[in-house]
Amino acid sequence: MAKWKVFVTRIIPEAGLRLVLENCDAEVWQEETPPPREILIEKIRDCEGVLTLLSDRIDGEVMDSAPKLRVISNYAVGYDNIDVAEATKRGIMVTNTPGVLTETTADLAFALILATARRIVEADKYTRKGLWKTWGPMLFLGRDVHGATLGIIGLGRIGQAVARRAKGFNMRILYYGLRRNEEAERELGAEFRNLHSLLREADIVTIHTPLTEETYHMIGEKELSLMKPTAILVNTARGAVVDQKALYKALKEKRIFGAGLDVYEKEPIDKDDPLIELDNVVLLPHIGSASVETRTRMAIMAAENLIAGLRGEIPQNLVNPEVLER
Ligand code: GLV
Ligand code: GLV
Repeated sequence: MAKWKVFVTRIIPEAGLRLVLENCDAEVWQEETPPPREILIEKIRDCEGVLTLLSDRIDGEVMDSAPKLRVISNYAVGYDNIDVAEATKRGIMVTNTPGVLTETTADLAFALILATARRIVEADKYTRKGLWKTWGPMLFLGRDVHGATLGIIGLGRIGQAVARRAKGFNMRILYYGLRRNEEAERELGAEFRNLHSLLREADIVTIHTPLTEETYHMIGEKELSLMKPTAILVNTARGAVVDQKALYKALKEKRIFGAGLDVYEKEPIDKDDPLIELDNVVLLPHIGSASVETRTRMAIMAAENLIAGLRGEIPQNLVNPEVLER
């Protein structure tokens, strides 16, 4: 059987890795941090396939260094780390892992909503430090999540999964997106708003759009200024959808109540990032899809996409079907 040469840019869960190793002549990067660009370029020189993470930037120059490359299988639903137009030009298929991580990511978005509104992390630190003297009428007053108005930016798979959770909390659901989704409006009782109206009305704003040229810095100083002083912003999508400097300023000046972040403009954030000094923000290290079950499903899906593409089949999760028309 043919053994295609492939490079896997990090150790992924065993079930997926095994599939790759059984079907391909694969080299797996063993370090905990991504292969540096020069090394990545070197490693994929003779490869027909590469299994990448969102921390690998794959642009035209990288692709040019791998003339045999036919498939880039991204171990993530988001694929803003890959220049898809450049891949299509070169006849390279790009795949992602949608669907399998929807519910897990929605769980994390909800965890951030609750943690930020009820000041969970701050209160935990306080308890551990031994600062707790007595039950206090004014101790760690947060904001109610139940019954609040939730503004969802991007009512795709993940946005809808968050809306289903919000229904259980008796929340009013507003959404903004490029397209109206009338079925979801009926099923979830979600009401469409333009972005500015959503920001003005919502108590909690949660972001679920991919990062594209259109969504880059979609939430900046102006948008933050429209939010209520009691409002919360949660981002589990991509950091650059929010202008992080503007968000820092809004949090520092307490122009909004708080923020819950899983994603940043630059990941990891620096040890001395000013956000770290603030109490009204919950900071997570991009763990939206990080459950044992989901990461295993993502690994299998990424492996299957890679192998299908190498076999000359159409992978299940091809993001650039236009590549087939070349
Ligand atoms: C994670 O952020 C993903 O896109 O899968
Ligand atoms: C991603 O899975 C989305 O469409 O929300």
